Amino acid sequence: MARGELMKKLLASYGRDDEFRAVAELIIDEEEQKKNRVLARTLRRTLDNAVSSGSSSSTNASNAVEGSRSDAPRSLAPLLPFPDPASEYVERKVPTHALPDIALTEDNQEVIRLLVLEFRKGEEIRSRGLPLRSKLLFCGPPGCGKTLCAEVFAQEVGLPLLLVKLDRLISSYLGETATNIRKLFELARKQPCILFLDEFDAIAHTRQDNSEHSELRRVVNSLLLFIDRMEPRGFLIAATNLDASLDAAVWRRFDEVIWFDKPDRKAIADFVAMKFKNVERAFRIEPHLKALQGYSYADIQRVCIQAMRTAIVDRREVVSNSDFATAIGNEVRRHHGKKTRR
Ligand SMILES: Nc1ncnc2c1ncn2[C@@H]1O[C@H](COP(=O)(O)OP(=O)(O)O)[C@@H](O)[C@H]1O
Ligand SMILES: [Mg+2]
Repeated sequence: MARGELMKKLLASYGRDDEFRAVAELIIDEEEQKKNRVLARTLRRTLDNAVSSGSSSSTNASNAVEGSRSDAPRSLAPLLPFPDPASEYVERKVPTHALPDIALTEDNQEVIRLLVLEFRKGEEIRSRGLPLRSKLLFCGPPGCGKTLCAEVFAQEVGLPLLLVKLDRLISSYLGETATNIRKLFELARKQPCILFLDEFDAIAHTRQDNSEHSELRRVVNSLLLFIDRMEPRGFLIAATNLDASLDAAVWRRFDEVIWFDKPDRKAIADFVAMKFKNVERAFRIEPHLKALQGYSYADIQRVCIQAMRTAIVDRREVVSNSDFATAIGNEVRRHHGKKTRR
């Protein structure tokens, strides 16, 4: 996230400890990514001390200030160590995309807008005894923005994004790492973050496949139970390519279901125009709409990029109609190959 944006978020989160901590963590993350290790370490120590000076429940004892002062300023949320980013099944991702980068239907824009607002007013909503919508299910065909939206959403609410690699988590769970899962969910319960379970189909499939190892099914069911019981301080987002075939037992665990469909004609036209925002083109999009129908955003993006590449190879500044048509042909060929090989 741009530094200015982070600073704005930090100031805006004044008085809301959870959010403040989350933004501070993002700033430290950025410094780590930029390899400013000394600064990152100093910032983290400062943050940890600020946290532990007023909190006896801090789990990060090594950074705790000896003898907490009773007159210490109001402390931040207790610090929990994030799971090791190199850990096998969870990876922390710094969002690089924001709202203008994603094409959303009006309905989805509205759902996302409301979720962000509710999160901001979270304390108020909770104080009136109402729960927050915190478990979201993203459904839809591949390449239509589920993963991208998780990133954009993390950026909007200013929470760290933790990508959970379900296949690895499940197989590790089969071993003796049940405690790791527990830790992960404990973390999401205590520390605001976005826990993103991408490719959630893995779980749904396992439930449907009767031939599966019964131990594996047991594990998957326990994972679902965990999801059921957890109360994230941020969000739990699961993404799946499955639609109606998704088990009802899985559906009902989510507070909100958001659909990411393939673009219709208007959305295709807008998307291509957006992709060519900074690149000159000498063609109208309309005549190509029919050929592009049925393709995902990721497919259409590939067409645009291929057309741009062709123009560059030909040393032309302007992308021609034939560049675009050829790129579409290439995409059609790709998909045809996929179908016949099945
Ligand atoms: N709705 C969208 N708006 C803008 N770009 C998109 C959209 N959907 C997909 N893309 C592009 O395709 C890539 C892959 O999409 P992704 O979010 O991984 O799809 P999914 O998770 O639904 O399979 C994205 O990184 C982005 O470049
Ligand atoms: Mg995805």
